[in-house]
Amino acid sequence: KPCIVLGVPVQVGAGRLGCDMGPSAFRTAGLLTELQNLGYVVEDRGNIVPKPLRDLQHPNTAIKALSEIVAWTEAIAEAAYQASGDGMPIFIGGDHSLSAGSMTGLARRAAEEDREFFVLWLDSHPDFHTLGTTTSGNLHGVPMAYATGLDGFAGYFPTLAAPIKPQNVCMTGIRSVDPAERSALQSAGVTVHDMRSIDENGVVSLLDAFLQRVAAADGVLHVSLDVDFLDPVIAPGVGTTVPGGATFREAHLVMEILHDSDLVGSLDLVELNPFLDERGRTALLVVDRVASLMGRRVLDRPTQSYRYTPKIG
Ligand code: ARG
Ligand code: MN
Ligand code: MN
Ligand code: MN
Repeated sequence: KPCIVLGVPVQVGAGRLGCDMGPSAFRTAGLLTELQNLGYVVEDRGNIVPKPLRDLQHPNTAIKALSEIVAWTEAIAEAAYQASGDGMPIFIGGDHSLSAGSMTGLARRAAEEDREFFVLWLDSHPDFHTLGTTTSGNLHGVPMAYATGLDGFAGYFPTLAAPIKPQNVCMTGIRSVDPAERSALQSAGVTVHDMRSIDENGVVSLLDAFLQRVAAADGVLHVSLDVDFLDPVIAPGVGTTVPGGATFREAHLVMEILHDSDLVGSLDLVELNPFLDERGRTALLVVDRVASLMGRRVLDRPTQSYRYTPKIG
C-alpha cells in the first residue's frame, strides 16, 4: 500500500501561532525520503486547502476561529475519505483540530467497508471538550469529543457519517485533563492511560491489551500522535508542553510494537510548532519515530502477532 502524505497547515485551533509551518518542517526533516528508504511508494498530495468560510456564531463566546476550523474539517474529512481508499494516509499538521477531519473521514471509510474503527490517541491531553465546555476556546481541544459523537456539535461541525465508538478509543500518555473532560471521558467509556498507569504497568502491557482488541475485531487502527505526548525535554517544538511525558525509549517501543502489530492503517502527526523548535530536533525525532512505526528496526526478533482469528460456526 502506498503512503499518502497530506499536509494540513491549520494553526488557528491552537492557542499560539506556528503550527502552519509543521508540514514544511516534516518534509524538511526528511519524512518522505525516510519512507521511501523503507521501501514504500510515497505520494505527497501537497497541502489541503480549507472549504469556503461560513459565518458561524456559538453562544460560548470563548470559542476562537469556529468558522475556520469547520471549513478545515470539511476539507480534511473529504481528503481523508479519498486517501484511505488509495493507501495509508499520513496527515502532517497542523494543530490537533485536524483530527476532527481525519478521524471522521477515515471512520466513514471504515464503516462503508464494514470494518470496526479504532483510535490510539498518543497525547498529554484528551482533547475531549465540547463546544459548550471549552474555556480556552482553542478548538484543538475538541476533536475527540466531536468524532465520538458527543452533543453540541450539530449545526456547526459536519454531520458525522460514522461516529467513533468511545470504547474503541485508547488514550495513552495523558497528564493534563480539564474537569469537564474528566467526567465526559468517564461517562463515555473511553480507555484512558495516564502517565501513572504507564509507570505502574509499562507501556507494553497497556498497548498489547488494546491491540488484542483491535485484532479480535478485525479492526482498522488510526494512530493520532500529538507531539506533546513526548516529554518536552526531548520534544520542545510544541506550544502546549506538559512535563513528565513519554521518554524516547517509551516512544520508540510504542512505535516498534505498532509496526509489529500490522494493524495501523493511518496516522496523524500534529502540534509540531517549528517556531518553538530547536534546530529541527523535534521534527527529526518525530520523523525518526515514524520510521520505527513503518518498519525500521534495530535487530530482527520474533514478534508478538496480532492476528484476527475468525470464529467458525
Ligand atoms: N485542555 C486544554 C484546552 O482545551 C488544552 C488542549 C490542548 N490540546 C492540544 N491538542 N494540544 O485548551
Ligand atoms: Mn492533542
Ligand atoms: Mn496535547
Ligand atoms: Mn511492515
